[in-house]
Amino acid sequence: MRLQGKVAIVTGAASGIGRATALRFAQEGARVVVADINTAGAAACAELIHQQGGTATFIATDVASEADIQAMIQTAVTLYGGLDILHNNAYWTEARTALETTLDNWQRTIDVTLRAVWLAAKAATPHLQARGGGVILNTASVHSVVGVPGYAAYQAAKGGVLSLTRALALELAPRIRVVAILPGAIDTPAVRISSDLTVDKLIQDIPLQRLGKPEEIAATAAFLASDEAAYITGTGIVVDGGYTTP
Ligand SMILES: NC(=O)c1ccc[n+]([C@@H]2O[C@H](COP(=O)([O-])OP(=O)(O)OC[C@H]3O[C@@H](n4cnc5c(N)ncnc54)[C@H](O)[C@@H]3O)[C@@H](O)[C@H]2O)c1
Repeated sequence: MRLQGKVAIVTGAASGIGRATALRFAQEGARVVVADINTAGAAACAELIHQQGGTATFIATDVASEADIQAMIQTAVTLYGGLDILHNNAYWTEARTALETTLDNWQRTIDVTLRAVWLAAKAATPHLQARGGGVILNTASVHSVVGVPGYAAYQAAKGGVLSLTRALALELAPRIRVVAILPGAIDTPAVRISSDLTVDKLIQDIPLQRLGKPEEIAATAAFLASDEAAYITGTGIVVDGGYTTP
């Protein structure tokens, strides 16, 4: 139980990586705030944590809304007495090239996928400091570091998430660690966002010849959130089955 006594928030926790991470954090002993715009999915995740003997609550959260982010952080503090771990994981986009991207797609992608990371980190920091320190994990992507056509706004946002991770790590050291996770193709609804990129095509470029599992990202997140990763900050951990190996 590596996170015993800790309080964690996971955004985008109704599905995929966020859901697996919320479950894993709870299995590691953390009390978890399950935040997502999908209220039913968030409620189901929190319920599953209860059934497994863990402690969790859910809150309907649109991470593009500063008020919702404030309410999410306050829920952890009010209900569980503080905050130790913030996992910024929610994303939204439409698969479009730069030339096809609309202003609405660009803005919503940036607001949900990048701006929310900054707003949540800003709102969480005083509470992490009040506990003597903490951890901010940001789900970036292999597309923070390598290109793929068809996702211009998403790539811009994910490049920003990695850069912001570095900035926050330097600004919030030494008490708060800030680390990005760079998943490759993971078996969630997100990997099927574009009909152009089938799973079969994706697997051809992955040395381990399979999609990753959400639980494999959750395991990485649990390690990074724990004291076992106490000397890791300001960097991105790639979990991609070898996809970005040069
Ligand atoms: N699956 C992959 O292959 C892959 C690869 C690289 C990075 N990632 C990243 O992993 C993270 C999790 O994605 P996933 O694969 O689990 O996808 P997913 O679609 O399973 O989950 C995304 C979650 O974000 C939530 N969400 C969307 N808009 C929101 C908003 N405005 N406010 C709050 N929540 C919102 C959705 O409701 C959903 O529950 C994302 O940051 C994604 O970019 C995924």
